[in-house]
Amino acid sequence: MTPLPPSVTETVFCSSTDLSSQNQRVDNKVTIDTVLSWKGRRRFGALTAYDYPSARLLDEAGVPVLLVGDSLGMVVLGHPDTTHVTLDDILHHLRAVVRARPRALVGADMPYGTYKTPSAALATAQCLVNAGAEYVKAEGGTEILPQIQAIIGAGIPFMGHLGMLPQHILEEGGRYRIKGRDDAGHQQLLIDARVLESAGAFACVLELVTPPVAAELTAHCRQMLTLGIGSGSACDAQILVTHDLTGAFPWFTPKFAIPLARTGESVRSAALQWLKAVGEL
Ligand code: KIV
Repeated sequence: MTPLPPSVTETVFCSSTDLSSQNQRVDNKVTIDTVLSWKGRRRFGALTAYDYPSARLLDEAGVPVLLVGDSLGMVVLGHPDTTHVTLDDILHHLRAVVRARPRALVGADMPYGTYKTPSAALATAQCLVNAGAEYVKAEGGTEILPQIQAIIGAGIPFMGHLGMLPQHILEEGGRYRIKGRDDAGHQQLLIDARVLESAGAFACVLELVTPPVAAELTAHCRQMLTLGIGSGSACDAQILVTHDLTGAFPWFTPKFAIPLARTGESVRSAALQWLKAVGEL
């Protein structure tokens, strides 16, 4: 039996219940092959989802790729960064998303500390797949190659994440920094993208990568999609934290995100109107 990472052994949720088969019964399901066929032909968008209604609404809007991102630590759970998110947290939210039976391809982040070794990485990825993830994402390139090989070797679709790595925020001194500006950073990104693509990753998030470098990586990778976030418009796809798009976390919005709704304001206003109505009863 594959050894489980510490947070997994504590949970009863990491069972063999195979929710992924539920996803496959959905009509016109977006698959890894579908999105790969869009490389160089169709730009698309991917958004985070953390619960049943958001997954259902985004799916109804036609969003083809959903991610149960560990950004849920900040925008849903109130933590200061993603390092506090556990595997149990992700599994809980992933299950809610999968219950919406989205047509979209659904993936999940591998939380901080759950992929330190190849066997831990595989156990984590397997838990996520058992809970309905159709792909898994982890942060890093060359330094986690054995982990990526273990995951892909087991037939689990893998999405990489290069550039600013939020799980390394503490090493970055608490700041989100743009990557690829200097020659060393640029070269490292090229190496890491090559490593991910050769290992068989189907996609890679490029977070806060300087736009010319993101464009170069996108052109360079023929078999791997790039999903940009704060990395310019030349990537194969854009990915965003849904709360940054909908204004549902109004206390902080990253510079690159333009909210297209004011959900926070709507909630405050509805509560205020209701309080007034209750007071007038
Ligand atoms: O956790 C997250 O939401 C992400 C972003 C790339 C969207 O990783």
